[in-house]
Amino acid sequence: MGRLDNKVCIVTGASAGIGRATAVLFAQEGAKVLAAARREDRLKELCDECAGLPGTVAYCVADVRDPEAVKTMVQAAVEAFGRLDVAVNNAGVMDDNTAIADMSDEMLQEVFATNTFGLMYCLREECKQFLSQGDGGTIVNICSVGASHQTAGAAYCASKGAVLSVTRNTAYMYKEESIRCNAISPGGVVTDIPLVMPPSDEFGFGRTSELLNFSGELAMPEDLADAILFLASDQSRYVNGEEIKCDGGWTCF
Ligand SMILES: NC(=O)c1ccc[n+]([C@@H]2O[C@H](COP(=O)([O-])OP(=O)(O)OC[C@H]3O[C@@H](n4cnc5c(N)ncnc54)[C@H](O)[C@@H]3O)[C@@H](O)[C@H]2O)c1
Repeated sequence: MGRLDNKVCIVTGASAGIGRATAVLFAQEGAKVLAAARREDRLKELCDECAGLPGTVAYCVADVRDPEAVKTMVQAAVEAFGRLDVAVNNAGVMDDNTAIADMSDEMLQEVFATNTFGLMYCLREECKQFLSQGDGGTIVNICSVGASHQTAGAAYCASKGAVLSVTRNTAYMYKEESIRCNAISPGGVVTDIPLVMPPSDEFGFGRTSELLNFSGELAMPEDLADAILFLASDQSRYVNGEEIKCDGGWTCF
């Protein structure tokens, strides 16, 4: 028996890193996964890789910054698999570590467009679907220890602080509707995220890199996927509105 047998799950940002590892693990646990991201070739590869697993993986090309694309993504899950049970809102980008005085308008807009607005568009459509089904649903938002510790620039940390707030707001608002909404906050994870982030600002990176000395060994995406599985499955049925840090103790200092 898999821990997500026949559960219909959306995973955003599934073409790489934590999202990809989560989609694979969910398929191993028997889920019907709609993997969403922008790069179709990567999503096709993921579907092929998962072909022999107990679950099923289908894909949908979607940019979470576009509210219409997000609507289409939720519809695609329902069209492919008949309903929605679980959503992992994972798509995200880093900033350039700038402190507020040096932050550009473009950086603020780009980071919030994906990490905050994009995640909230997803949450809205997922909750609408859960409410229309009438039997609840489970959401895992991928936040960051940067929501409460200064591990990145002003834009990134603030964008993730908002993710924590909307996680708790959603959990409270729909508690009676059996919609659970929790967050996972990774510390340092070995993924592509540094490859796609802009070059770091010298002053800001100087400040944040002091904290890297405490981070210890980085996690692998699979370490995060295991924690996400717990919050996505019924094993966490009484956990709601919580943030679980998955950082190997980095932020315990
Ligand atoms: N890697 C870390 O150290 C770390 C630490 C804390 C939090 N996080 C968070 O974990 C999440 C996943 O990051 P990762 O480390 O796996 O990075 P990654 O770059 O390896 O993967 C991010 C995924 O999101 C997708 N994505 C980005 N913008 C998108 C958009 N507009 N629409 C659709 N998909 C989009 C990317 O294509 C990719 O599939 C992010 O929310 C990130 O902020 C990562």
